[in-house]
Amino acid sequence: MRKFITTSVFLLVTTIGFCQNKTTIIKAGKLIDVETGTVLLNQMILVRNDSIIQVANKINIPKEATIIDLSKSTVLPGLIDCHTHITSQPGGDYYADIFRKTPVDVAITAHIYAKRTLEAGFTSVRDLGSAGLVDIALRNAINNGDVVGPNMYAATMFIGSTGSHGDLNGFSPYLEFNAPKGMSGVANGVDAVRAQVRFNVKNGADVIKFGASAGVLSEEESVGGPQYSQEEMDAIVSEAKMWGRKAAAHAHGAEAIKMAVKAGVASIEHGSLVDAEGIQLMKAKGTYLVSDVYDDEYILSEYSKLGYPDKIINKEKMVGKLQRENFQKAVEAGVKIAFGTDAGVYPHGWNARQFKWMTRFGLSPMGAIQAATINAADLIGIKEKTGSIKAGKKADIIAVANNPIDDITTLEQVQFVMKNGVVYKNN
Ligand code: ARG
Repeated sequence: MRKFITTSVFLLVTTIGFCQNKTTIIKAGKLIDVETGTVLLNQMILVRNDSIIQVANKINIPKEATIIDLSKSTVLPGLIDCHTHITSQPGGDYYADIFRKTPVDVAITAHIYAKRTLEAGFTSVRDLGSAGLVDIALRNAINNGDVVGPNMYAATMFIGSTGSHGDLNGFSPYLEFNAPKGMSGVANGVDAVRAQVRFNVKNGADVIKFGASAGVLSEEESVGGPQYSQEEMDAIVSEAKMWGRKAAAHAHGAEAIKMAVKAGVASIEHGSLVDAEGIQLMKAKGTYLVSDVYDDEYILSEYSKLGYPDKIINKEKMVGKLQRENFQKAVEAGVKIAFGTDAGVYPHGWNARQFKWMTRFGLSPMGAIQAATINAADLIGIKEKTGSIKAGKKADIIAVANNPIDDITTLEQVQFVMKNGVVYKNN
């Protein structure tokens, strides 16, 4: 018996010892150093457990190491999408999605999209709004290792005024929808928006998302009109800050963008109608622009088929082209850019399709990759942990067949995915 116990303890200790020291060497034919904006040749990356220990031309390979040979590929940091709605995507019928689904339906399928996103090479996402705290449940399940998906930084409820992009508009006021208190995200006035920020933080929000202006995929009138007063925006951002959270503003309209930037948001989402003054203000304040420049493509080709009303399609026609032109102006002016797609507007896993559009409208391929790695990590506040392949950071590493500096669309076909040192894909 004693021998059995001793042997078991020995096995347990060696197993734990072994698990605690899983060592991997990745041989990278090309390695994108996003911090210097250069492509290095024939590098080796030493990964121990979940972290990067060393990156060099030549490393003495420890004998216990597993070798992953990516010497014919280009290796780069795991991609980061700063604007997803990873818990859902259109189900094929606009009204059914609104009226026949509950957050329970959303929760049942959310894991599918999380897996697709990770397998597409996105090892982290900032998720900017979901139904009924499904985002928090998903994030926690991923962190627990129960569900496969990217590291998530979640916003919970989109905070918006009555009649805003975050409200349900266009229907008879005789239809009453009663979300439990706080769960709709609709809040008006300085005290109420502060209370909503507290409610979101209390329930797990890593970041605060609010609607500074109207939206496209919602039935209120103009796309550009502000939907909160300056006082309300100031209150949201300062309350978020007090709780150690950054704020992201949904903002298409020029005026709303300036108001949100003045309030101190970390990022402007969409930014479609930004004007010269807004661009200067963003530059001066170091506000990131997160512009979903692929979406127009998908919405105009698919959304009529999904039963979306003409009113919405017409709004898209009004902003799509301007958004891309204004994105280019912001890039040229030197506004900080982080990659964010609004995935969930289109199918999850297609996130990387946006790179092509970012490079068509002003960014270099390296600039677009930096937007989705080091800049995105900076915006989310996780730069110490991820966003580049550097000793001390988490091993969030992907690989593609071609050099994306020559062909950015190769990022649409990610072959290898490692997140926190665990390999999730290796084709
Ligand atoms: N969620 C955004 C909205 O409804 C999507 C905008 C999509 N269109 C675009 N051109 N980016 O406002």
